[in-house]
Amino acid sequence: PMRIIIDTDPGQDDAVAILLALASPEQLTVEAITTVGGNTGIANTTRNAAAILELAGRADIPLYQGCDDPLVRAPIRGEHVHGESGLDGAELPSPKKQAEAQHAVDFLIEKLRAEPAGSLTLVTLGPMTNLATALRRAPDIASRIARVVSMIGACFEGGNITPNAEFNAYVDPDAAAIVFEAGIPMVVLPLDVTHQVLTTPSRLARLRGIGTKAADCVAGMLGFSGRFDLAKYGWDGAPLHDPCTVVWLLRSDLFTGREVNVAVETQSPLCVGETVVDYWRVTGRPANALYMRHVDAEGFFALLEERLARLP
Ligand code: BDR
Ligand code: CA
Repeated sequence: PMRIIIDTDPGQDDAVAILLALASPEQLTVEAITTVGGNTGIANTTRNAAAILELAGRADIPLYQGCDDPLVRAPIRGEHVHGESGLDGAELPSPKKQAEAQHAVDFLIEKLRAEPAGSLTLVTLGPMTNLATALRRAPDIASRIARVVSMIGACFEGGNITPNAEFNAYVDPDAAAIVFEAGIPMVVLPLDVTHQVLTTPSRLARLRGIGTKAADCVAGMLGFSGRFDLAKYGWDGAPLHDPCTVVWLLRSDLFTGREVNVAVETQSPLCVGETVVDYWRVTGRPANALYMRHVDAEGFFALLEERLARLP
């Protein structure tokens, strides 16, 4: 199995991504979860990650708490979407599991240095503050990371927090710029893709029909966080962002995209957090990311359903 570390700010869609990874042990080994402030503050995202691990019966996986605030800018939260706890809609008991004492950034540096180069893949589901801080402090780790697979950015679809910025890029654009410039092989699952996988009423009903605790929680959570997006977009379902990363790891054949240059705007008041994607290769800037543009939504939800059925 591929060895991954998931860096996350749960968040309902983060939770689904984590559960999907945990449900796929023949393909993925989750080495650790690291948390970051984003959808809500770090105390909440860490507690939520612990609750998700316990829900999946995987309290054995180490959890490390990371950065709360972005590198430079003041934090922006998403509680209007995700609720006070960051994970409203699921009836989860307060977790017994605690985070390890070590800070997530120190853990990332130590772990990447200790393991063979190219053996660990990083999956980022929130602002890139932890990885950027690690790269600034220990630039040598860049060449040791097999790949960074991220839910971040937007191009053709426009933004979801400003007209042209996606939330994870907007919350910490300075961190995103550092990561995109680090020379690490990157796979980007932007809004252009996530807006194609919608939690329609019939898909939520299918998830509810699985009948396990984990699937019930997923349906409850997505019903909650989806309400905001339904009103915002007027679509038949809400986009299921973060699981696109894990589905890509499990079934990359469901996606199409191309190798392009992605740069992140950090200055302009009007465009800060915009991922400037040279999709038509007009700049001559070298490609630094595999940027996904299409996904087979039916295949995506069939896989999600099949895997979630494996959890308690
Ligand atoms: C991203 O922002 C967060 O609210 C979601 O968890 C996802 O990571 C989508 O823009
Ligand atoms: Ca997230």
